[in-house]
Amino acid sequence: MKDIKILAIESSCDETAASVVKNGREVLSNIISSQIALHTLYGGVVPEIASRKHIEKINQVIEQALREAEVTLDDIDAIGVTYGPGLVGALLVGVAEAKAISYAKNIPLVGVHHIEGHISANYIENKDLEPPFACLVVSGGHTHLVTVKDYGTYEILGRTRDDAAGEAFDKVARAIGLGYPGGPKIDRVAKEGNPDAIAFPRARIAEAEYDFSFSGLKSAVLNYINGCKMKGEEISVPDVAASFQKAVTDVLVEHSMHAVEEFGIKKLAIAGGVASNSALRAAMQEACEKRGVAFYHPSPVLCTDNAAMIGAAAYYEFIRGTRSDLSLNAVPNLKLGER
Ligand code: KG4
Ligand code: ZN
Repeated sequence: MKDIKILAIESSCDETAASVVKNGREVLSNIISSQIALHTLYGGVVPEIASRKHIEKINQVIEQALREAEVTLDDIDAIGVTYGPGLVGALLVGVAEAKAISYAKNIPLVGVHHIEGHISANYIENKDLEPPFACLVVSGGHTHLVTVKDYGTYEILGRTRDDAAGEAFDKVARAIGLGYPGGPKIDRVAKEGNPDAIAFPRARIAEAEYDFSFSGLKSAVLNYINGCKMKGEEISVPDVAASFQKAVTDVLVEHSMHAVEEFGIKKLAIAGGVASNSALRAAMQEACEKRGVAFYHPSPVLCTDNAAMIGAAAYYEFIRGTRSDLSLNAVPNLKLGER
């Protein structure tokens, strides 16, 4: 069979990224231009600045992706682009660029769901991973527990009722003075702290056993910090970070294990920015081993936003016959499984 090479573009938040992926699993190039340093000045992503930066960077990033993969647009079989969910102005930059290339070079276009991209990141380094499997998607904007029934076919078991897991990391990090983005910083300082030092709550929702809620935990951390301030006590940043991180990972692991047991699933993957968290990876690995469940996770660079994961997802959509036309638009609140 002829090789299929996909040029993938991702611009849904604060990374401008392009990648060339062969046959869905082989990454020929993976270029990421991060805007983190810029947004750090404001303590979070500023949508207007993100859109402007994407426009400045996107051509350069695509050219570099093609160059590093040693291909030209004439070698590309399809263009995959994230069209939602995400920041509308940021998404539009990638979508407009992908449509322009598709039109000019007459290359098929495939719109990709960002979360489907995160899940598909697992295919890249785990050549043996095939559906069905369960996947915990934990990013800055999303927390979903899903079963991947087949390529591109998902059943959502649970989702967050309020904050996403990554959002909780970012908000708590800000409160304890670690700055943006909070996830990697909490991960680092938590290594010096005691995860059992402070008893933060683990939220469970009785009528929806796979759903998550992190806003109560975030409030509990803020209350703890205020309580210490009023008593004139100094807080231990490593202990707060470690105890908060443990409260998040306990719930993520517990819900995931509940699902694999309930549905007799033998493979569990994790995806999204928070999937690079070292404590979560260790706890999930241990819980899976105990139950004889195979555990899969992407390398950290493929957990946070990148275009290689969009290329992997676009490949499986492409071979299923999914095509987008020039009416493709950005859909900021696109739901998983919808087109
Ligand atoms: O998937 P992603 O790059 O963007 C979204 O689609 O949202 O995820 C970004 C999120 C941020 O909230 C960031 O703080 C979190 O992932 N994150 C982490 C770690 N690395 C990134 N959270 C916990 N531990 C980490 N090591
Ligand atoms: Zn993402």
